[in-house]
Amino acid sequence: MTSVRDVREKAGTTPITMLTAYDATTAGVANEAGIDVLLVGDSMGNTDLGYDSTLPVTVDEVASRTAAVSRGADDALVVADMPFLSVGVDEATSIENCGRMVKEAGADAVKLESGSHTVELTERLVQLGIPVMTHLGLTPQRVKETGYTQQGTTRDEGHEILDLARKHEEAGAFALVLEHIPANLAAQVTDALSIPTIGIGAGSDCDGQVLVVDDVLGLSSYSPPFSKQYGNVREQMLDAVSAYREDVESGGFPADEHSHVVDELDDLY
Ligand code: KIV
Ligand code: NA
Repeated sequence: MTSVRDVREKAGTTPITMLTAYDATTAGVANEAGIDVLLVGDSMGNTDLGYDSTLPVTVDEVASRTAAVSRGADDALVVADMPFLSVGVDEATSIENCGRMVKEAGADAVKLESGSHTVELTERLVQLGIPVMTHLGLTPQRVKETGYTQQGTTRDEGHEILDLARKHEEAGAFALVLEHIPANLAAQVTDALSIPTIGIGAGSDCDGQVLVVDDVLGLSSYSPPFSKQYGNVREQMLDAVSAYREDVESGGFPADEHSHVVDELDDLY
């Protein structure tokens, strides 16, 4: 069982490994591979749920997938990603939504796409016993505002990210995701904080890295240029499913070895 304390202590020794997972099977594989942190990302909107953004993803969907991932992974820390408008509108609803992930779904922590609106909320959640992972830089729930472009590219924006990172550390966040920002900004944020930074498209100086599992497996129809593909799972799935279809259509499946006959049932009709 990995705890938020283990993640904090690993930082600065060996890079922290984080990967998204949305189901028990994938969580089991990632767990067996020794991944430290499983993020039940709202990227499930783009991957498993077939939307073209993360905006439609609901609290129920994240809770259900978080429960599946928690059942599938015994060792990894499980982090539930709070979807669009599930936090930040009002405090009571935000706490209730985050609380569900821990109480009902078995999450070890929640991740909040962060900004000035999540500083006090982070402090409150931590007081209540809900560990918080902060997320700064590109925050795809603000796609209508920012697009998917790199963030933190001016000195002003760089200062703003650094300032928000410090405020969330002070508020009690245990780790910070930095998405799609210049590597030299991520390096300075990492230096400035004592909590671990986990980068995606943020260079090699973060304390850890995270990728979307579909991109790692080679299952995505689109992957961002900062991700890396380690498998060809989409091709293998297509081969297997096509072979099955051809086998059924040609009469090759099922064969005798896949069938069972009960003699007593002969001549029934
Ligand atoms: O939803 C997600 O997969 C994420 C990671 C890219 C950090 O938020
Ligand atoms: Na996300």
